[in-house]
Amino acid sequence: MRALTWHGKHDVRMDTVPDPQIVNPRDAIIKITSTAICGSDLHLYDSMIPSMEKGDILGHEFMGEVVETGPGSTLQKGQRVVVPFVIACGKCFHCEKQQFSGCENSNPAETQDLGEIAYGTAMTGLFGYSHMTGGYAGGQAEYVRVPYSDVGPIVIPDGLEDDKVLFLSDILPTGWMAAENCQIEPGDTVAVWGCGPVGLFAIQSTLIQGAHKVIAIDHHPHRLELAKSLGAQVINYHEVKVREALMAMTGGIGPDACIDAVGMESHGFSIDNVVDAVKVATRLGTDRAHVLREVLMACRTGGRVSIPGVYGGMGDKIPIGALMEKGLQIRTGQTHVQKYLRPLLDLIGEGVIDTTFLISHRLPLERAPDGYKMFKENQDEVTKVVLKPEWEKEAA
Ligand SMILES: NC(=O)c1ccc[n+]([C@@H]2O[C@H](COP(=O)([O-])OP(=O)(O)OC[C@H]3O[C@@H](n4cnc5c(N)ncnc54)[C@H](O)[C@@H]3O)[C@@H](O)[C@H]2O)c1
Ligand SMILES: [Zn+2]
Ligand SMILES: [Zn+2]
Repeated sequence: MRALTWHGKHDVRMDTVPDPQIVNPRDAIIKITSTAICGSDLHLYDSMIPSMEKGDILGHEFMGEVVETGPGSTLQKGQRVVVPFVIACGKCFHCEKQQFSGCENSNPAETQDLGEIAYGTAMTGLFGYSHMTGGYAGGQAEYVRVPYSDVGPIVIPDGLEDDKVLFLSDILPTGWMAAENCQIEPGDTVAVWGCGPVGLFAIQSTLIQGAHKVIAIDHHPHRLELAKSLGAQVINYHEVKVREALMAMTGGIGPDACIDAVGMESHGFSIDNVVDAVKVATRLGTDRAHVLREVLMACRTGGRVSIPGVYGGMGDKIPIGALMEKGLQIRTGQTHVQKYLRPLLDLIGEGVIDTTFLISHRLPLERAPDGYKMFKENQDEVTKVVLKPEWEKEAA
């Protein structure tokens, strides 16, 4: 089959690779009909995540048609399913608590060590996301093997086309959980850093969950326009000082809740960000944590901080004093996607949530390397790239 493979920094290629096979009884094989490139994929593209190997198949946002099932799968051939990016067994201690992104069983033992060293625990299995998370082949391909297919995938009713439901695989539940982690109360003002897909869906979810006002922060004009169209007030961090602007917009106390939807690759030329960039480039540091610092400094006393943005290692100079002295609460984590699939599919079906506004580019899978390049280099206009394996190259 054809698949998008990783070969090094800014080097991804379409290759011909062996077709996936059923390995375990609970596996299913899915023929991909739509798959998307995620901001998290850019961390791999930029070589920020350790334990990638040349030839690894990328992609963790995908859906398709069931073409083969193991004897323990509950899926049936021909069903259309969206697959969560988190691989979870459904039966372990964490899965039983619905903390699916903490599943203890989905990362094979021989690849666990790095997680143990970096995080004090093995990471849960994720599709297409390095050997630290199990080394699973991803779904930017014609076919993919889905382990624990009786737990993760959700069957999509006819009539809901791919583009309406694809983002259930990751960014929609991620935006939703980011909002939920703010524990929104009536009258709340929520500030959201980053108007990428995760930030935009967090804005949408925050308003649905009852926020009174949402303030979105980014510098890309088109992304800020999208945030506005969802109902947010906006701050361009190239034009004003973010903390001062937030204070002015909240009567001098700061937002009740703050969402860091940027993570480890914060942009900007503030001194701390430049120092971080030099450290990361020389392997003396791991994360550019400017946004997290700004969030902790800006959030109001007694406020809530939600961090969907991915951090990979040891962020420096985190204002722990602000966190403690203001009595902030922090909630974060890889998304427990499985928990949110049914309620969010219902909200899509009822027309409460529409995610299609986000898609700026649809390309044949063969053009995936172009998709990565444009998503990386033209973030403003390229808000989300969806790849269609069945499309001919010429259709681009
Ligand atoms: N927790 C999870 O399970 C989960 C799932 C998916 C994605 N993520 C993470 O969420 C983050 C966002 O993902 P995305 O797909 O929206 O990424 P993206 O790269 O498309 O968007 C990030 C946005 O942040 C903005 N930004 C950068 N520096 C900023 C700053 N200093 N202040 C304000 N805005 C700034 C950028 O301009 C960009 O628009 C990434 O770290 C991604 O890995 C987490
Ligand atoms: Zn993703
Ligand atoms: Zn589990």
